[in-house]
Amino acid sequence: MAPSAVPTMRALILAALLMPLAASPALADRAAVKRGQKVVDEWCRDCHVREGAKLTADMAPPYSMIVSIEGRDRAWFEAFLEADHFPMTTFRLFDHEKADVVEWLLDLQKRQK
Ligand code: HEC
Repeated sequence: MAPSAVPTMRALILAALLMPLAASPALADRAAVKRGQKVVDEWCRDCHVREGAKLTADMAPPYSMIVSIEGRDRAWFEAFLEADHFPMTTFRLFDHEKADVVEWLLDLQKRQK
């Protein structure tokens, strides 16, 4: 091998090693969104009507409505999930579940735009 090819090889190997790192944030986001969806399905659907279902007096608004309100950003959702919120006092999520639910809400918001 010509000596000048060595740095090129190094660069290629380095690029190959770094590639999975570059791809992982997006993948991690998708995984968080999926986990968030599971949390919502398990803990939140008793009260929040599903998208497209009729909102009745004894049910809480669908998330499509909640995320479309002005000012609903990451900070708002994070603060909301941290606070005890009447009448949602009976649910307790782990911090990682709250983080996943926030990702799911933001993803829903993005999909609606
Ligand atoms: C016991 C019933 C109940 C459960 C369970 C419940 N919610 Fe709610 N939630 C409500 C009601 C009722 C409201 C509307 C309160 C209001 O308008 O002040 C609400 C409102 C919200 C809002 C928006 C409030 C606003 O100001 O727009 C968010 C976000 C929310 N819930 C998230 C969740 C998440 C996430 C879960 C599951 C971890 C959950 N809720 C589970 C009853 C519930």
